[in-house]
Amino acid sequence: MNSSKREILVTSALPYANGDIHLGHMLEHIQTDIWVRFMRSMGHQCYAVCGTDAHGTGIMLNAEKAGVHPEQAVAELREAHIQDFAGFEVVYDIYHSTHSPENQELSNFIYGELKRQGHIESRTITQLFDPEKELFLADRYIKGTCPRCKVEDQYGDNCESCGATYTPAELINPRSTISGATPIEKESEHFFFKLGDFENFLKTWTKSGTLQSEVANKLDEWLQDGLQAWDISRDAPYFGFEIPDAPGKYFYVWLDAPVGYMAAFKALCDKTGESFDKYWKPNTNTELYHFIGKDIINFHALFWPSMLHSSGFKTPNGVYAHGYITVNGQKMSKSRGTFIKAKTYLEHLNPEYLRYYYAAKLTSKIDDLDLNFEDFIQRVNSDVVGKVVNIASRCANFVKKAGGRLSESIVEPELLQSFINAGDSIATHYENREYSKAIREIMELADQANEYIQEKAPWVLSKEEGKEQEVLEVCTVAINLFRQLMVYLAPVLPLMSDKVKTFLKVDTLDWSSRKQLLTNHEINKFKPLMTRVDADQVSALIETSKESAPESPKKTEKLHPGGEAIAEEIDFNDFAKVDLRIAKIVDARAVEGADKLLQLTLDLGEGPQRNVFSGIKSAYSPEQLIGKLTVVVANLKPRKMKFGLSEGMVLAAGPGGKELWLLEPHDGAQPGLRVM
Ligand code: MSP
Ligand code: ZN
Repeated sequence: MNSSKREILVTSALPYANGDIHLGHMLEHIQTDIWVRFMRSMGHQCYAVCGTDAHGTGIMLNAEKAGVHPEQAVAELREAHIQDFAGFEVVYDIYHSTHSPENQELSNFIYGELKRQGHIESRTITQLFDPEKELFLADRYIKGTCPRCKVEDQYGDNCESCGATYTPAELINPRSTISGATPIEKESEHFFFKLGDFENFLKTWTKSGTLQSEVANKLDEWLQDGLQAWDISRDAPYFGFEIPDAPGKYFYVWLDAPVGYMAAFKALCDKTGESFDKYWKPNTNTELYHFIGKDIINFHALFWPSMLHSSGFKTPNGVYAHGYITVNGQKMSKSRGTFIKAKTYLEHLNPEYLRYYYAAKLTSKIDDLDLNFEDFIQRVNSDVVGKVVNIASRCANFVKKAGGRLSESIVEPELLQSFINAGDSIATHYENREYSKAIREIMELADQANEYIQEKAPWVLSKEEGKEQEVLEVCTVAINLFRQLMVYLAPVLPLMSDKVKTFLKVDTLDWSSRKQLLTNHEINKFKPLMTRVDADQVSALIETSKESAPESPKKTEKLHPGGEAIAEEIDFNDFAKVDLRIAKIVDARAVEGADKLLQLTLDLGEGPQRNVFSGIKSAYSPEQLIGKLTVVVANLKPRKMKFGLSEGMVLAAGPGGKELWLLEPHDGAQPGLRVM
């Protein structure tokens, strides 16, 4: 382990000021905070900065809806975010904002440097424009009918129904989701950052050990394909910084957002006298790390290092991406009550439960991470309460009875030494962001400590005559083991650590303090350090999250034109049971006495032809169907219907009546082909 003092600056991605902090964000901030606390425990200088990402169209429109100035909306959300993070014991040296003078100055400077070196080009582009709002429309503000499958209400760049991708101009009947107006095409001049100029630099930088290998590999694919220039300007009206010498043009939010890291640090330096240059100029010994989610890798690992490199700043020593949080195996969902706000969580549960649970699951990889509430309850109760707190609670009273002072000597020096030695590998796991490995090792030690106590059974000894000293010696060993475990857990459990410091009457649980054994040392009366997770509180949290969540816009987007909500999730095995085949409709006729049904004769390529009844008469006449290919559920159990046996089911979509479309595979499909 490097024993010399390191100087480190760490950031978490700056949350947008357009919504509340939720448990997905918390994964990142808890990951960062544990790392920062660990580095400080090791005796290193470690600054942590974050702040609000204030700019962009979304924030502007939200503020407008709320009838306030964007600056006010941002200020209010910033305050709320600060409260949420504090509630989880996530501590930043400064929580700044991208809408700040420091950020404007630094953004202008960096842009100026890029421009001066010829890395900015201007081009006139055509975009859709809302003539009522007088606003250029990003793809997500345009909806219309999919040009391919004709399903209505699809976003400007891709169809959720058939998966087609297209440009907004290709949508049928496009409309602005802001005003409802039909967008018009309009030209405007945009500024582009010529990322291609940095191809060689990036090819080296991305492979220099700054990125996780899976990330570097992904980026390598993009680098092979060649880098497009990046559009960094937006036209007024826009909430952001106006570009110098370009009236009416603003920096795109992602241009000044990462500069916000520097701005936050600059503001901190202005307060404390720390040197800004020491942390941001090349060729210093300081280290810079960004903790981010996997969705924003390209901004941090392509654009940002290129911007820094060309404007004379140092590039990050590490960009550390994490995966996304799912809850109970699914994407966070407002209707299921699993879109949980930080604030709501704090109203029901101890923040350290979540810190511990995330730590127990976090790795250095970008895999998604599931917050499973059953597992959560079980992990916290059995590990923290059942294993760790238990050590102290079982031994503290015997020490108290013996006068409150630990024994003068340590009777199990090897055991304590092995706990001390384990600190090196646990430290390596923390440093490498393999928190789950660190936790696993810590819990193995806790098991050993409990075995020791179990074996010595001080509660039995204490009933025997003349064994007082032995009881105290056993408990002294146990209390020392407990203190070492708490040194290892302190980055994860800062609140419990504070209580432990009071209980043990120690000033510090820093990493090196594990080596100083507590002998002939007075301790305080034991007070509960952490209570068990109450399953009712977890249920209440989920219930409240259902109630408090506003109707999710995403939910309505997911509705198909028939207006039914998506059915409950099934796993792949359920799906794989359904045998879908291409079938050719060789005959179709009306069914006497049935006004909705058509009787179809299907050729599935193999086996006898099948007879299937289908309720599509309102949309198709028999003649239209003969010769068509469609998709059929081939392994549906034959059903006896009033008019005969139906041996399968053809697939159609639509709300009903005339609006019912038989699925029609592309030409070239052959009867019998399996659909998957
Ligand atoms: N404002 C940008 C970041 C600018 S950094 C210069 C942004 N904001 S965000 O609020 O959308 O996301 C902030 C961080 O939270 C991102 O790193 C993002 O990946 C992370 N997460 C948001 N939802 C998440 C989950 N459900 N799970 C884990 N992390 C998630 O992006
Ligand atoms: Zn479509």
